[in-house]
Amino acid sequence: MMHHIKGVLNAEQLSTLTQHLTQADWVDGRVTTGHQGAAVKSNEQVDTQSSLYQELQQFVLQAINQHPQFFSATLPVNISSPLFNRYQGGGAYGFHVDGAVRREENLWLRTDISATLFLNEPDSYEGGELVIQDTFGQHKVKLPAGDMVIYPSSSLHCVTPVVAGQRIASFMWIQSMVRDEKKRAMLSQLDDDIQQLSSIESATTTRMNLLNLYHNLLREWSEI
Ligand code: NI
Repeated sequence: MMHHIKGVLNAEQLSTLTQHLTQADWVDGRVTTGHQGAAVKSNEQVDTQSSLYQELQQFVLQAINQHPQFFSATLPVNISSPLFNRYQGGGAYGFHVDGAVRREENLWLRTDISATLFLNEPDSYEGGELVIQDTFGQHKVKLPAGDMVIYPSSSLHCVTPVVAGQRIASFMWIQSMVRDEKKRAMLSQLDDDIQQLSSIESATTTRMNLLNLYHNLLREWSEI
C-alpha cells in the first residue's frame, strides 16, 4: 500500500535544504546501485563522501523522526541514511527493484519500505513521475515539495524522464518492526482513527479501549 505523508518538511526547512543542495557535489547516480539498476539509471546524487552530505542527511532524518505520521505509518526499527538525487535533461530511472538488504554504516538493514521525499514543486519540472507497480496496476506519484510517499520495497518502480526543469528528491529505506505490509496498514489505519477520537470528549473510554487494542496488536506483531 502506498501512503502519502504531508508536510514532512515545512517551507523554512525546505528552503534551507534546497539552498544547501545547490552547493553540494553531485556525482553519477550509479555509484549506489547494483548492476541491474545501473543499466537503466541516469541521474545524479549528492556525494556521500562530502561533509555537507553528512549535515544534510542528518537534517532530513531529524525532520522525519519528528513527524508523528511517519512513525505510525512505517514503525521503523532502522532508517537508511537519506540520499539525494537530481534528474534533468531527460534523466530517468527505468523499472527496477530495490535490493532486499543494504549495508549501512554499522548494520544490515532489510528494506521493507521505500520512501521518496519530494524537494521541489511539481510544476517546476516536466515528467519525473514516480511510477509504482503493484497488484492493482501502475500508480503515478508527483507530490508537492515537502511531502513524502512511502511504498513497499517489494514493488517494481521507475522515475519517468525529466524533460524540462529539475526534479530533486531525497530517498531512503526503512526496516519496519512490522514486516507484514497488511498488518502495518491495519495498524496505521487504527492509529489514525484513534487520533481522530481524541477530539471527542464522550469517546474517552472507547479511545482507551482501542488504544489498548492497538498496543496489544503491535506487541503481538512487532519484532525489534
Ligand atoms: Ni528504487
